[in-house]
Amino acid sequence: MKAIPYGRQDISPADLAAVAEVLQSDYLTTGPAVKAFEDKFAEYVGVKYAVAVSNATVGLHLCTLVMGVDRNSKVITTPITFAASANCVRYCDGEVVFADIDPATILIDLDRVEEMLRAAPAGTYQGVIPVDFAGYPVDVERLRSIADEHGLWIIEDACHAPGGYFTDSKGQQQLCGNGQFSDLTVFSFHPVKHIACGEGGMITTNDEKLYKQLMRLRTHGITREEDMLVENHGGWYYEMHELGFNYRITDIQAALGVSQLDRAKQGIERRRRIAKRYDEAFHDTKIKTIEVPKDIGHAFHLYVVQVADRKGLYDKLRSLKIYSQIHYIPVPSLPYYRGLGHQPADYPMASAYYDQCISLPMYPTLTDEEQDFVIEQVLAFSAR
Ligand SMILES: Cc1ncc(COP(=O)(O)O)c(C=O)c1O
Repeated sequence: MKAIPYGRQDISPADLAAVAEVLQSDYLTTGPAVKAFEDKFAEYVGVKYAVAVSNATVGLHLCTLVMGVDRNSKVITTPITFAASANCVRYCDGEVVFADIDPATILIDLDRVEEMLRAAPAGTYQGVIPVDFAGYPVDVERLRSIADEHGLWIIEDACHAPGGYFTDSKGQQQLCGNGQFSDLTVFSFHPVKHIACGEGGMITTNDEKLYKQLMRLRTHGITREEDMLVENHGGWYYEMHELGFNYRITDIQAALGVSQLDRAKQGIERRRRIAKRYDEAFHDTKIKTIEVPKDIGHAFHLYVVQVADRKGLYDKLRSLKIYSQIHYIPVPSLPYYRGLGHQPADYPMASAYYDQCISLPMYPTLTDEEQDFVIEQVLAFSAR
C-alpha cells in the first residue's frame, strides 16, 4: 500500500491546462484570472465582494488592520486553531484572549464568550475571531447577536470550511463566508485545503467600504480611483493613501483556483461520504467521533477522532505509512504565547482535547480501499 497522507491536493488535466494557458498569456500577475477567481468564489459562497490574496495568513492580517486592531485592542479567539488565527491580532500589536472550546464541537464555546463579555467592563473587547474548525461551521448568527450586544466585530476564519453551512433560526442554510453575520471571512487555498492554489487566500464581505480598503491594502495602499485622488497628473497617475503591502495572488494561482472551484461541490460531497464511512465504522467503539447535527453542512477539511492512546495510534499508523496529523497543539501553549502569559491550564477543554485528538486521512481522492485499510488499523489498535 502506498503512503496515505492526512490530506492532499487533487490536480486534474483541466487544472494543468488552466495554468498552462495563463503561463502563455500576457499576465502572470494582476491580470484577469484574479478577478475571475474572486467573482467565481463570491458566487460559490453567496457574497457580494471577494478579495484574493497570497495566502490566508496575510488575509487575516488585512482583516485585523481594517478592523482597526492596535495595541489597545483585545480580541477573542479559540485555542484550537492554527496559530495564524491569533497571530493576525499580534501583527497589529493587539492582545489575544482565548475562550475555551465546546468539547462537543471543538469550536469556540459561545457560552464562554458570552460570559467573558458580560463579566468585563464595556469596551474591553473589540472583536472575535471564530474558527470553523475542521470544517464545522460556527453558529455565527448566535455569535453576531452576542457580538452586537457588546459592540464587537467578527472576522470568521473559514479556512477549513468553503462550502460549509449552518442552518439559522429561520431554517435558512447560511454558507460560510456569505457575509450575513460575519463582517469579514477568510479562506485558505493551501494544498491540503478544499481548493488548492499552492498558496492563496480569499477574504469575503458584503461591506463595500471594507472591500475597497482591502483592495488598496493588498497593493501597497495604492489607489487609481479618481474620486480618491488628491491630484491627477494623467493616465499613469496613482496615489498611496495608507501603508499597504504586496499581498497579491498571481494569475497562475488564481487560474488554478478557478479550475479547482469547478470541482469544489464534488469534492465536498466526497469528503462527506468519507466522513460517513468513518462514522459508521467507529460507531459503538472506544473511538470518539464528533457528532454533527443533520442541519449542519460540515465541510470536512479534517476528520478528527479522539482516542486514549493518541501517541500510540499516531506512531502505529506512521509505521504503516498512514500519515495522520494532530490538529492542533493549543495555540496558547505554544512557547510564543506562553511567553505572553498564557497558561494551558486556563483552557482545560482544549488541553483535554489535544491529549486525545488525531486527524485521519480525509481528501477526495482517498479510495475506499485506502480508507478501509486506515479503519482496519485504527480499530485493531483500539481493540488491543
Ligand atoms: C484555521 C487556519 N487559519 C489560517 C490558516 C493560514 O492559512 P495559509 O496557510 O493560507 O496562510 C490556516 C492554514 O493552515 C488554518 O488552518
